[in-house]
Amino acid sequence: MAFVCIEDYEKYALERLPASIRDYYKSGAGEEFSVKWNREAFKNYRIRPRFLRDVSKRDISTTVLGHKISMPLGVAPTAMQRMAHPDGECANAKAAQAAGTIFILSTLSTSSIEEVAEAAPNGLKWLQLYIYTDRDVTLNLIKRAERAGFKALVLTIDAPFFGNRRPDLRNKFALPSHLRFANFQGDLSQRINTSRTGSDLNEYVTSLFDPTLSWDDVEWLKKITTLPIILKGVLTAEDARLAVEIGVDGIIVSNHGARQIDGVPATIEVLPEISKAVGDKIEIYMDGGVMQGIDVLKALALGAKMVFFGRPMLWGLVYGGEKGAREILEIMRKEIDFAFALSGCASIKDISRNMVIHASYYSR
Ligand code: FNR
Repeated sequence: MAFVCIEDYEKYALERLPASIRDYYKSGAGEEFSVKWNREAFKNYRIRPRFLRDVSKRDISTTVLGHKISMPLGVAPTAMQRMAHPDGECANAKAAQAAGTIFILSTLSTSSIEEVAEAAPNGLKWLQLYIYTDRDVTLNLIKRAERAGFKALVLTIDAPFFGNRRPDLRNKFALPSHLRFANFQGDLSQRINTSRTGSDLNEYVTSLFDPTLSWDDVEWLKKITTLPIILKGVLTAEDARLAVEIGVDGIIVSNHGARQIDGVPATIEVLPEISKAVGDKIEIYMDGGVMQGIDVLKALALGAKMVFFGRPMLWGLVYGGEKGAREILEIMRKEIDFAFALSGCASIKDISRNMVIHASYYSR
């Protein structure tokens, strides 16, 4: 049977992955309320299409931090992609390059910065950062990303510790022993395979990430790099305003795929307040629960310049490495194009705020 939507790939991957990897990829924090909300909340926004607007020629491309991309959807950073397929991050980066969009590499990747740069030399690549207590570890990553031609740094602000992911605790989740954190040497690359209690990933994070992280560290980051800085994990207008004040280049409205703290709102729900607070001062992106083209249209109408997704690219990898990842991006490209066409938008500039409205509007 032909695979026609992201859910088809999701179902395939969930049926095939070993339980501990499947659970690591799919789970969220706590009781997973927010995991459900991320996806469900999109359904509470309704599209108000406009017709008779000549949509025969369409252009879904956009510009992000001065770089042209072919569509307003890119690949969010997810850790340890070689658990999904032996080519892991390299396959996803190649697929993003072929699709003409952004690939964000996780600090906790199983392919190194240099391997990914070599696999997708012409793709637009950003590096996601965690800040280690030993600042030299982070500094080293930044310098390597600069040398390897990465175009922005994405600082994840929602992870002073890792969320309480019950399935990972039950499974004592650890990186399979043939894999390593490829950006590091020795202890830092292996420690996750070696401990024996609880979830090895949580132990790794608790022992190495810096929970003192504060706005001062954003200042520090600005001083030590020439690359644009994007803060990932903003969920309130308050933090969004601080991000503008401190002078970062963009923010990703994200709740980390609902993997950090359960009970936070769906990201599509907080987008309007953040977009209102920030206006055009810095670029706003979002991720969380994006599964189809209309989700992207809704996020753009509510104020995002572009959208990212994480898990769907893992499902694509499981299905068929780079080929599967390309299929995921091409399905989304078609769906985004359809969403544009059928809502009366020939290009991004035609999408207006009043084209998407909360469902409560219709029950008044
Ligand atoms: C993530 N995410 C994440 N974020 C980050 O900043 N660094 C990381 O290493 C990871 N790792 C990671 C692993 C897995 C398995 C998942 C599912 C997610 C969060 C990710 O960047 C993004 O915010 C979410 O995945 C978006 O939600 P969807 O698209 O998965 O619903």
